[in-house]
Amino acid sequence: MTVSSSPDVIVIGAGAAGLFTAIAAGKRGRRVVVVDHAPEAGAKILISGGGRCNFTNVDAQPARYLSANPHFCISALRRYTPRDFLDLVERHGIAWHEKKLGQLFCDSSARDILGMLLAEAADAGVELRLDCAVRDVQGTEGGFVLDTVRGRMAAPKLVVATGGLSIPKMGATDFAYRLAKQFGLNVVTPRPGLVPFTFTPQDLARTQGLSGVALDAVVKAGKSAFREALLITHRGLSGPSILQASSYWQPGHPVTVDLTPDLDLAEHLKAAKRARPNAELKTILGDVLPRRFAERLCGEGGAGGGEVESRPLRDLSDKALAAVGEQLRRWTVVPAGTEGYRTAEVTVGGVDTNDLSSKTLEAKAVPGLHFVGEAVDVTGWLGGYNFQWAWSSGWVAGQAL
Ligand code: FDA
Repeated sequence: MTVSSSPDVIVIGAGAAGLFTAIAAGKRGRRVVVVDHAPEAGAKILISGGGRCNFTNVDAQPARYLSANPHFCISALRRYTPRDFLDLVERHGIAWHEKKLGQLFCDSSARDILGMLLAEAADAGVELRLDCAVRDVQGTEGGFVLDTVRGRMAAPKLVVATGGLSIPKMGATDFAYRLAKQFGLNVVTPRPGLVPFTFTPQDLARTQGLSGVALDAVVKAGKSAFREALLITHRGLSGPSILQASSYWQPGHPVTVDLTPDLDLAEHLKAAKRARPNAELKTILGDVLPRRFAERLCGEGGAGGGEVESRPLRDLSDKALAAVGEQLRRWTVVPAGTEGYRTAEVTVGGVDTNDLSSKTLEAKAVPGLHFVGEAVDVTGWLGGYNFQWAWSSGWVAGQAL
């Protein structure tokens, strides 16, 4: 008898969370089948971290996750930790390094992580069924019946690991949300996260010609602030600090940028006026900001205001210099929007955690139905947090199957 003729568990989605759930359940002796409509398992793992997969973050604490219920992720993250995953990586002899801010990457290729997961899945007796789109799912007395393009399947337990809406061209779908609603679960409205901002035509005109300029900045959206690189693009703003802030941003709200986080710019300008009174403002700003950026800021219509552009510092009052300093430490833009799911690394929102057990990821009202990974309303920061959630949520679900 093949596994698929009567599995204990069907997992829909052969991404990070689905594979890890299947491995954990398979290792506990469960007969597991994983189905996926894609021709290949773990496609997002392969493109992650620029091809090197930022597979976890040593600092994956609950505060680094967004959710309508911030406490929900605590249990899973405690029970399966970054150290646990790193142990697995090391057992497979995969070379890794910490890049920055606790972010762990493969030395060689993301393929190492996918290879490890597939080897673990094979070892746990997990059957993979790719190119297998699921048309319909029905709950029955004994569990769940799936109508797939490869025929009918049934199992007492069903795990939905179909991820979020990010990168539709890679096969992302709203399957998890539809299924959740079908079974009476609530879905926290999804939106793109870890995504670049787009500018209004007016703001684009102000930054025209600055595409490619990068600087170290503190970017604040709502109450959350992130210090990392900021990149001006031909459509708006990107870079890690912007991606992080985007997950906390609400349409129509401003984003505030401190362009000189280590410097009291007003004091610096006043001191420069005493030391170099004949120097122009843009020259002094060019010492602390990318020159192209400083020149544009002082130019017509720029954040520095056209008036001050060509004047030597001695002609500017301390009050005017303080105002320029203040302006650049609180550069405020209201993004027109984001680049959307086309480029978003994650989807914020998802299956409502109020309807799930934090210990097992099982739907409280539907015994045997679990949701794991990005499909759930738990979204990590940039930097390996989202894969850690996939491993942790998958592992705890696997212990309960
Ligand atoms: P995931 O999306 O990985 O898997 C879902 C699976 O379900 C897919 O295989 C899909 O084909 C399948 N599926 C979808 N709909 C289906 C349907 N209707 N029927 C059947 N199958 C269906 N995170 C991180 O921690 N470190 C990093 O380095 C990166 N880098 C990164 C780069 C890029 C470009 C992106 C887009 C994202 C990242 N991420 C990341 C985020 C990370 O990739 C993401 O959070 C996890 O892959 C989520 O894992 P899941 O298994 O939940 O979903």
